[in-house]
Amino acid sequence: MQLLPGFRDFFPEDCARTNYILSVWRDVAGRYGFVEYDGPVLESTELYRKKSGGELLGQLFDFVDKGDRHVALRPEMTPTLARMVAARERDYKKPLKWFCAPSFFRYEKQQRGRLREFLQLNCDILGEASAGADAELIALVIDLLRAFGFGPADFVVRLSDRDAWAGFARARGVAEDRLLDFLAVVDKLERAPEADSQRRLAEFAIELSAVRAFIADPSEEAAKLQGILADLKARGMADFVQVDLTIVRGLAYYTGLVFEVFDRSGKERALAGGGRYDRLLEVMSDGKVQMPALGFGMGDVVLANLIASVPVASERRKAWLDARRAAEVFVVLAKEEHRIEALALVQTLRDSGFRTDYALSLAKVGKQFQSAEVVGAKFAVVIGEEWPQVKLKELATRQERLLEVTDLLNALRS
Ligand code: HAM
Repeated sequence: MQLLPGFRDFFPEDCARTNYILSVWRDVAGRYGFVEYDGPVLESTELYRKKSGGELLGQLFDFVDKGDRHVALRPEMTPTLARMVAARERDYKKPLKWFCAPSFFRYEKQQRGRLREFLQLNCDILGEASAGADAELIALVIDLLRAFGFGPADFVVRLSDRDAWAGFARARGVAEDRLLDFLAVVDKLERAPEADSQRRLAEFAIELSAVRAFIADPSEEAAKLQGILADLKARGMADFVQVDLTIVRGLAYYTGLVFEVFDRSGKERALAGGGRYDRLLEVMSDGKVQMPALGFGMGDVVLANLIASVPVASERRKAWLDARRAAEVFVVLAKEEHRIEALALVQTLRDSGFRTDYALSLAKVGKQFQSAEVVGAKFAVVIGEEWPQVKLKELATRQERLLEVTDLLNALRS
């Protein structure tokens, strides 16, 4: 009974690490005024066929349900979000700043940084067309990563614009309905063998050298993105961004600004990616709702790899995990005849908010101390022949003192 490829079991230590990531995501998104939402895990396959497009279609976990519906496990959130907002946009003040962080499913080849089930934080701003929203969203992606302990030496946000490529393609006679196919070739340029790119570009009568020359000089694009760059500079974030025309993104709905976040070592796949999708709500609502929008997704898999490889980030994670170990206090019962008093004390400690544990059955004192260490308790409270006095022992320093049980709560609090 093996795990399916690309899926993960979450043992308690794995859950704790994932909870760390979720807690930082939620904390920083909250600091930026984003509120949480969610949608269904299963959607009609049609939603992704029509709205996501691109390589995602080959990666759908889709099937026919018992009601003969063609359905798919969600590979991404954006089409669901667009559907939800288009249906109830009047109920919310603009701009909407929404986030979610559930699981997604893609039938991808299992590789470093890519699984078939993963968590993805989605942050989106809807109803705001200005460059101020672009900069705010990029600042958020930067601050999310800074909160894990990463600095400008660890990651970079690569900014680009699909309009620049649309202009390039149009000037070379690429028909509108082939634009996405052309963008797909550019999207693969960094990963595909050169001969493949050359062959695919030949279909558009475009030379690879022309594409490379366009990428080599992003100055025109940098001038257009000046407003966003100046905004980020004002926040002290200039070192985290760079204009890079190799970024076009693989999804069909993006309209203008696009970006991806990479680790500086270049060893990992993208940490996050997003952009503007100003026409998706209109398409989703058959023209009824017109609302500019932009957002990004950040997965947990590459992020966890990077946390493990950057010392500052792993120390920060360790400190967070240590502060949330299973128990703070372990009640050690040295005299079995005091079990009733011990149970009452355990209950009082728990009622007072202390994470408290104890041995469920008769055990030697040494064994109980071992259990206290295993659960990571900071303190042991020993109930023995001194009762109603107890020994309070700090496990790390092995310092102990005898005190009245009535003084225990105050002692622990201080
Ligand atoms: P995406 O580039 O497909 O964008 O995914 C965003 C991030 O999700 C990736 O950079 C990566 O961190 C993570 N990710 C994607 N696929 C996998 C996988 N198979 N295993 C592990 N991690 C993965 C989107 O999904 C867009 N819907 C994002 C967006 C939101 N755009 C606007 N709003």
